Amino acid sequence: MAKARTAYVCAECGAHSVKWAGQCPDCAAWNTLSEMRLAVAAAAPAGGVTATGLDDLQLDPEERYATGFSEFDRVLGGGLVPGAVVLLGGDPGVGKSTLLQQVSGQVPGDLPVLYATGEESMRQVSQRARRLGIEGGALQVLADTELENVLAEARRNESRILIIDSIQTMTAAELTSAPGSVGQLRECVGRIVQFAKRNEVSVFIIGHVTKEGAIAGPRVVEHMVDTVLYFENDPASRYTMIRSVKNRFGATGEMGVFAMTGSGFREVRNPSAIFLSRDTLTEPGSVVSVAWEGSRALLVEMQALVADGGGGYPKRVAQGFDQNRLALLLAVLQRHGDVQLGPEDVFVNVVGGLKIAETAVDLPTLLSVVSSFRDRPCRAGLVSFGEIGLAGEVRPVRYGEERIAAAAKQGFSCAIVPRANAPRQPVKGIDVVAVTRIREALEGAF
Ligand code: TYD
Ligand code: MG
Repeated sequence: MAKARTAYVCAECGAHSVKWAGQCPDCAAWNTLSEMRLAVAAAAPAGGVTATGLDDLQLDPEERYATGFSEFDRVLGGGLVPGAVVLLGGDPGVGKSTLLQQVSGQVPGDLPVLYATGEESMRQVSQRARRLGIEGGALQVLADTELENVLAEARRNESRILIIDSIQTMTAAELTSAPGSVGQLRECVGRIVQFAKRNEVSVFIIGHVTKEGAIAGPRVVEHMVDTVLYFENDPASRYTMIRSVKNRFGATGEMGVFAMTGSGFREVRNPSAIFLSRDTLTEPGSVVSVAWEGSRALLVEMQALVADGGGGYPKRVAQGFDQNRLALLLAVLQRHGDVQLGPEDVFVNVVGGLKIAETAVDLPTLLSVVSSFRDRPCRAGLVSFGEIGLAGEVRPVRYGEERIAAAAKQGFSCAIVPRANAPRQPVKGIDVVAVTRIREALEGAF
């Protein structure tokens, strides 16, 4: 029998090393190596495989399964691709099991679905199914944590869709390491991917997320699958967002919006203004921005609070927005906007638990800071977007005209935008103020 080998595997990048080290020789992360037994495959005789000409493949490249939620189809890039492996990550309790159970009840009835759970009992699954109003149909449920059993059952049932809830509970029996360890995750995901590709079964893998926001375990798991989706939500908000961070079958950054109800998720088809609460918009420190999420505009409220920190080192805290970017913007504001914040603390928040990675919210963020600092609301009906450069210039962003149109449609009457984004023709209902410098934007906003 072949000897089982051990290796030290980095939890960050998945690199193998023969010896333990405090720092990963590959990605230079500290304290990420842990010992793992490598499964040794029985040596297979070489040969017996043949390549196929591309033209001989009898596949419909456009085939996709509808999940019953058009918002979820959108995030997947237009439906679920047969044989695709989709990793779905999120905090505990965010609704991963709920969503996928709903999807399993909604896919076309002739697609056999296997829902394998290592987290809950059959009773819990069936209770949830009743609450969600799912009729049995082609849905099979299996409560097991042994991956080979799950895959064997999927093979036996000729499942077209397999749901694994969750990857952290699954084990490959030959490995001695604990469920959820780096070694187990790598091995299990590897086998799942192989199974999916060989049998053209689409697989959803549920993964829990660590405090740092990554799927617990190695980043390599994300590299191995076709699509990576993350749940985002704010406990205070009714809405849950699902965002694609990687997708071999569609655009990344696409976002779907859902609302949790007493009977599961309901999709929000036209979410452009759901994150605005109209009563705070006239307060100092609040400015509406038009963000671009995936393929559509989303109006978001940026809120700032500039407060006396009582001496000491001033705090700069951003939520839903990059902290370093905030520090940079405040430096530009002091240098090129003639606004001296001094020792004040600055807090910035994107309302609704959204996370915005775009530079288009730079300008509205600064306007909200100045508005709070001066304790003066910006002019009524204002929206704004634009990137800020280090020289105090306001730089254009993509989809300028579409953003302005979206704001006009929601009844906003004035838009402060980068000059290069100003539309050539006037837009009905909205007054566009085109600016090139941060100073001009401040003049226009108050
Ligand atoms: P769940 O899907 O089990 O979350 P996860 O699998 O991500 O850990 O449940 C999410 C939460 O949603 C849970 O606290 C209960 C709540 N919920 C509803 O509000 N309505 C419903 O119809 C269901 C099924 C759950
Ligand atoms: Mg769950």
